[in-house]
Amino acid sequence: MTFLKKLSIIAMGCALAGPILMANAQTQQQASAPSQKELASKPWMNTRLGAHERTQLVLKEMTVDEKLSLLMGYFGTDAPWKNFTRPEESYPQSAGFVYGVPRLGIPNIWQADAGVGVASQSGPNVRERTALPSGMATAATWNPKIGFDGGAMIGAEARISGFNVLLAGGVNLVREPRNGRNFEYGGEDPYLAGVMVGHQIKGVQSNHIVSTLKHFAYNDQETGRFNLNVNIDEAAGRMSDLLALQFAYEIGNPGSVMCSYNRVYGVYGCESDYLLNEVLKKDWGFKGWVMSDWGATHSTVPAANNGLDQQSGFPFDVSAYFKEPLKEAVMNGWVSQERFNDMAGRVLFALFDKGVIDNPVPKGSNNIDFKKHGLISQKDAEEAIVLLKNDKLLPLTKSVKKIAIIGSHANVGVLSGGGSSQVYPLGGMAVSGLGPKIFPGPMVYYPSSPMKALEARLPDTRITFDEGTNIQIAATLAAESDLVLVFANQWTAESVDAANLSLPDNQDALIAAVAKANKKTVVVLQTGGAVLMPWLNDVGAVVEAWYPGTSGGEAIARVLTGEVNPSGHLPITFPAAEAQLPRLKVDGYPEVKDQRFDVNYTEGATVGYKWFDAHNHTPLFPFGYGLSYTDFEFSDLKATVKNDQLNVSFRVKNIGVVAGKEVAQVYIAPLNTKWEAPKRLGAFQKVDLKPGESTQVSVVVDPRLLAIYQSESKTWKIAKDQYEIILARSAIEPQSTAKVKIPARTLNVNGK
Ligand code: BGC
Repeated sequence: MTFLKKLSIIAMGCALAGPILMANAQTQQQASAPSQKELASKPWMNTRLGAHERTQLVLKEMTVDEKLSLLMGYFGTDAPWKNFTRPEESYPQSAGFVYGVPRLGIPNIWQADAGVGVASQSGPNVRERTALPSGMATAATWNPKIGFDGGAMIGAEARISGFNVLLAGGVNLVREPRNGRNFEYGGEDPYLAGVMVGHQIKGVQSNHIVSTLKHFAYNDQETGRFNLNVNIDEAAGRMSDLLALQFAYEIGNPGSVMCSYNRVYGVYGCESDYLLNEVLKKDWGFKGWVMSDWGATHSTVPAANNGLDQQSGFPFDVSAYFKEPLKEAVMNGWVSQERFNDMAGRVLFALFDKGVIDNPVPKGSNNIDFKKHGLISQKDAEEAIVLLKNDKLLPLTKSVKKIAIIGSHANVGVLSGGGSSQVYPLGGMAVSGLGPKIFPGPMVYYPSSPMKALEARLPDTRITFDEGTNIQIAATLAAESDLVLVFANQWTAESVDAANLSLPDNQDALIAAVAKANKKTVVVLQTGGAVLMPWLNDVGAVVEAWYPGTSGGEAIARVLTGEVNPSGHLPITFPAAEAQLPRLKVDGYPEVKDQRFDVNYTEGATVGYKWFDAHNHTPLFPFGYGLSYTDFEFSDLKATVKNDQLNVSFRVKNIGVVAGKEVAQVYIAPLNTKWEAPKRLGAFQKVDLKPGESTQVSVVVDPRLLAIYQSESKTWKIAKDQYEIILARSAIEPQSTAKVKIPARTLNVNGK
């Protein structure tokens, strides 16, 4: 499947998609205990039995065709150029659909993308839902509870919308800062990313629906994603990309995992025995099912035997490999009966295990408490926004009489990231006609206006808006104002990487001119990830708002005015120049259609701040960085090893005059042992403190973060050494250090 073909499917599918059949608002269906009569005929409906036993019971009753039906997924959107009409039972403009086995009580599977909310494929009848801030933003909260609450909100909306399997849970490591999908993921550190996304998955599944860990694995750039082949040292992979997925898997316990488009070690992600059978199913013990990404299945026998359980999103693939060809393969013994049962059994297991079968989703409606969900999204955004620079311009005070707001349609809305994760907001887009006409467009602005939210909070201030398209006009307005807020943005989207880390559309020149006209310039960024800031020394303050979700305007205004004290910390490094990165440009960029190429991750596990540390590069802003309107003091750092566990404790005190939240970060640096980098993030804790208040924090470091992975023995080995424990406010702002001797230890592949 080429990128262009995919574009056409989506574009044409969207143009002709039917009306959304969601008029019948229905209340959530509650699980009701099956009757004695039902249990006699369907013993697998007995909720007292375990998911495994129930699976075996129902499998015995299923015909070959019924098992097959569970293994073949369809696109939930029409694709007329391929003569494809979505299954009648699917929801229009949805990602996918799989036929269940109603006679046995096995429901259909309705799939929606759901990285930041219940998404729709583009077209005339999108479902309007609540969008959280981007995944990157949620990671910037460093608050697992925010991750969980957001996931739970998405899961609740999905259930009401009639979806029972969500394609949420993206945790590809931010290895390439120009990757167009970084906004969907959890940042550059395996532990932070895994913890945050793991909690989001857990939140989704708390609604008795399935969430999907993706994209398995190494889909770290969009350029050539269907054709590229990743090579990485096996152990380095286990300590980086795979470790992020492993943490998210352990915490979230997802029902399904989506294999990725790209090849790894020469083999497609969706037919990689190494990735699917060995790492995921054998080493990690995954019991749910592996579904392919849309258009990522390339065969029947190799795919099935190497670990793919379900083909997704037909007709994105060349063929319906898991339909008749799979039946044929099973009848001929090319795919064993045992494996065939395992494939169907894995789907059933996850549906039983996550409560999908016992808690059937109602017919889709839009009977949603948008107000309540909007507040969940807002809270996430408020903890995600990172204050990068502040020369006492913020918080804004009522004494500022004339404010100019320039750029990014900040008079009407906030930006979101594009592609299959796109959520369409209640009330429609704030600006229409922007971005590509076909996938991954459109460019969607949510109707949450930062300007209106500021006006409500600063009633005596005259606020004037200028689009920023004419630099001279913008600079003149800036010169006439007491303070300027420049909203600058970088729209990123699935399927395309950023050409470079500069703000697009001449915005650097706009900011420079405005800052020259008025020193009191605050830049508010809405970006997918890191950008360069050639104007940094000339502006008074910088705020990174990411893609802040459907309540983003309110969240930005609350942070700018100090109603909320900023507490976001960067989940990625902001480089000072692209020359500091492992590669000068994205491999294969600009993309040449159908061209195969290798991406060699020679940097191994030395990703993000680890690369910067190892090469003594000073970033523009380090990983973990974030300012506050108050100050914190760290003390009493202690590190001890007890029962083989590294415990770190310390105190944090708010020594300023306003309440605030701080992210205490614990980095570990071995004194003699060589790691992939001088130090690793070992643990973190967000604390919420009133002025003068202090709190005692105690964290435990996962032993894998102290170890080196050994491929041959599949073990994690901790070297006997003295380790420095660094309590810090970012990767380069140590506050206190301690030393601890850690004995040698060998752990199994799961760090046990
Ligand atoms: C994306 C997946 C997504 C799927 C279904 C693919 O293009 O890579 O993340 O879940 O489409 O929309």
